[in-house]
Amino acid sequence: MTTPKILVLDRSDLLADQIRGAVADTLPTPDVVACTRLGSAGDVLEADGPFDVLVAGPSLGTRSGLARLRLIREDLPAMSLVLAFSRRPDASLRDIVSTGAIDLLQLPLEDKELAEAVERGIELAAAAPVVQTAITPHPASATSDGGPGTVFTISSATGGCGKTFYATNLGFFLTHFTDKRVCIVDLDLQFGEVSTALRLRPKYTIFDALQRADADDVSLVDHIEDYTVVHETGVHVLAAPRDPSEADRISPPDITRVLEAVRQRFDYVIIDTPPALAETVLVAFDMSDMLYVMATLDLPSVRNMSVFLSTLERLKVPTDRVRLILNKAETDVGIEVEQVTKLFPQGFESILPYAKEVSRSINLGMPVMAASPTAEISSLMAGGMKLVLPEEAQAQIVAETTHKKPSLLRRLTSRR
Ligand SMILES: Nc1ncnc2c1ncn2[C@@H]1O[C@H](COP(=O)(O)OP(=O)(O)O)[C@@H](O)[C@H]1O
Ligand SMILES: [Mg+2]
Repeated sequence: MTTPKILVLDRSDLLADQIRGAVADTLPTPDVVACTRLGSAGDVLEADGPFDVLVAGPSLGTRSGLARLRLIREDLPAMSLVLAFSRRPDASLRDIVSTGAIDLLQLPLEDKELAEAVERGIELAAAAPVVQTAITPHPASATSDGGPGTVFTISSATGGCGKTFYATNLGFFLTHFTDKRVCIVDLDLQFGEVSTALRLRPKYTIFDALQRADADDVSLVDHIEDYTVVHETGVHVLAAPRDPSEADRISPPDITRVLEAVRQRFDYVIIDTPPALAETVLVAFDMSDMLYVMATLDLPSVRNMSVFLSTLERLKVPTDRVRLILNKAETDVGIEVEQVTKLFPQGFESILPYAKEVSRSINLGMPVMAASPTAEISSLMAGGMKLVLPEEAQAQIVAETTHKKPSLLRRLTSRR
């Protein structure tokens, strides 16, 4: 086993000393290096690296400190970043999240907690998830050809399976790893939660778009973008109506018009749906290039998934367009993943664990793949999602470290 390496970045030695003591009994005992000159972090990372974990101390708890950490992380995505601050930095939660840190610790801390955070960082660094990579858009797929976009619908027979969760993460994934335009359409008309999950305050909804089109006889294609709201990650969202009574006034042909318009304007369209085979949902199925059906690891959900799939067959939805996802897979819940996979010979595209990072990301209004890119769940999702990209684009997914020059790191981190 190789000795894990920890770099502690802070103007004072104190944090490094505490960490050294805290991990002294861990086997193999990590090598703890202290860097007290923030401006020379780049040099130390380059000269003494690679490090498994970077622990950033209170001196980095400023807006510029966070910006510097973000650049370091972008350059060294395989290294886990742990923030250890004594007070909440004078920066937005989003700035903190965007550093890609796996943990934000509040000092002072017990040795045990500190050691746990560092060990978790070491584990995650060793796991080298897929999502710690960047894609260089393939030249052939770099420009939008203006043709209709690819439509993905996320569905399930039962509620709470993670449709909205998956839809928002797929939206992030496609925006982040391609240069394509992505729009999530919230077709859970009564209880849509896409904007809540992303903490957006849409000015308009799908209902307003239809109202305007009816009243002014304007073309939805020309105006649909005026009705979307853009998340800071670049994903557009066409929100569900504010009020269930508005939802009742939207007919299946309305949905067709809206989806046609969105498809003309965006390269990827992701449709989030309610947990039912409503007529509006069937309209979405008809227009979908790919249909995800989700279930969680419990008997009712699994049983309903098989009923749902037979219904799709009866509706003549081509089976080669259907992908299955098992979510919130936990051990010791009285039903095993293997039992479930046996029931569905077509196989699951992804089997995702129950992960606490998801709740954290929801509280931040960020997809978990953005908030916790190093989490196991993020890399598992990326593994399935990358299959939707053209083969050339998949081949372009290369480790950040292989296509960035080390000199960049030194330049970026020695600004102060
Ligand atoms: N893999 C997961 N681990 C932990 N929590 C999850 C996971 N997937 C979804 N959740 C949470 O479960 C709840 C239901 O998910 P949601 O996406 O709203 O389901 P749906 O849209 O299918 O009703 C949400 O609070 C969501 O954050
Ligand atoms: Mg939902």
